[in-house]
Amino acid sequence: MRHFITLDDLSNFEIEQIFRLADQMRTQIATWSGFCKGKLLATLFYEPSTRTRLSFESAVERLDGRAIGFADPHAASVAKGETIADTVRMVANYSDIIVVRHNWAGSARVMACYSTVPVINGGDGSHRHPTQALTDLYTILQRKGGIEGIKVGICGDLRYGRSAHSLALAVARFGGRLVHIAPHGFQMPEWVLSRVKHLYGQEPLERGHLSDVIGELDVIYVNRLQQERLPPEIDREAASKSYLVNSAVMSGAKSDAIIMHPLPRVNELAYELDADGRAAYFEQSANGVPIRMALIASLLGLEQLILTQPPERKIASDNRSCDNLNCVTAHEHYLEPETEMITDDLTTAVCAYCGAIKPVTM
Ligand code: ASP
Ligand code: CP
Repeated sequence: MRHFITLDDLSNFEIEQIFRLADQMRTQIATWSGFCKGKLLATLFYEPSTRTRLSFESAVERLDGRAIGFADPHAASVAKGETIADTVRMVANYSDIIVVRHNWAGSARVMACYSTVPVINGGDGSHRHPTQALTDLYTILQRKGGIEGIKVGICGDLRYGRSAHSLALAVARFGGRLVHIAPHGFQMPEWVLSRVKHLYGQEPLERGHLSDVIGELDVIYVNRLQQERLPPEIDREAASKSYLVNSAVMSGAKSDAIIMHPLPRVNELAYELDADGRAAYFEQSANGVPIRMALIASLLGLEQLILTQPPERKIASDNRSCDNLNCVTAHEHYLEPETEMITDDLTTAVCAYCGAIKPVTM
C-alpha cells in the first residue's frame, strides 16, 4: 500500500505517469467514469479549504466513487480529545482512501502510520502541500512545455506557506531554477533550503522585491500572507501591505511569463490581472481535479501506475525530540521521535515528521 504524504513518496517516473493519466482523465472523462465505482474517499479537514476538499470530492465522484468526511473538526470527536491516530484507525474501516488537512506539521505522516488504507496529505500546518505541487507542476508543463531550465520566482510569504515549500522542492527536483522573493521576515525556511541544496544541488537566488528580477522570470508564483499562522509579534497590517502583484508590476515581466497562485488570494494579486493572458491561476486550480482523479486511481491500485515499493528514505528512531512547536510530536504524546537523514552527512538530520533540522550532536 502506498501513501502520498510528500512528493518524496513518488519517483519521477510515477509523477510523469500520473500526469499522463490526468491528461487522459481530463480529455476523455467518459472512458474513466465508473473507475472508482464502490470506492469511498474520506476527507478529514481540520482546517478550512475550498479547492482541496471539493476537488478531491469532485474527483472521486467523477469516477463514480463517493465521498464522506468532515470539514469542521468541532463536529468530530477530536473535540472530545480523540487523537489523530485513533481517528484514522476508525476512518480506515469506513473508507478506501483518506485525505487529511491538519494544522500540525507531520500530522498526515502520523495518520499514514496508523491507517490500513492509503492516506493523502491535503496540507499539514506550514509544512507541505504535495497535491498542490503536483497540480502546479502539471500546469507549468502545460503552459511552458517543461520544467528543466525555466526560472520560477516564488513570491510572498515563503516562511509559512506550505504550497511554496512543496513547489520549491518540486521545481528543484525537476531541474527548474528557483528565485525566492520574500519581504523581510518571510524568507524560505532553512529546512527547505537545506533539502534543495543537499538533494538537488541548488542554491536559489534570494530577492526582496519582485521588480528586481521580474524580467527574468518564466513563472511568477504568488502566495498570500498566511495570516492564520503568524506569531502574535508580527505586525499583520504592515505585512499584508508589503507586496502586491498588479498590472504595473507585470509590465516589467516577459510576454510569455505565467502568473500562478495556489489561491485563495486576499490582497496580493490584483483582479485586473485576471484578463491578462499570462494569468494561469484559475486553470491551475481547475487542474486540481484531473490530477486528484489520477492520484486516487493510482493509490487505489486501479491503474498499474504506482509501483509497490516507495522510493527509499533513511529513517531511524532517535532520542532527540523535535523543537518545532508546530510539529505533531509536540501535540500527540504517544509519538516517538524519528529522524530522517537526507544525505549521508550527519549535519543533515531532520525530524521525519515535520522536516525541521535537528541540531547536530557530537
Ligand atoms: N490553499 C493553499 C494552502 O492551503 C494556499 C493558501 O491557503 O494560501 O496551503
Ligand atoms: N489551494 C488550496 O489548497 O486551496 P484551499 O485552501 O481552498 O483548499
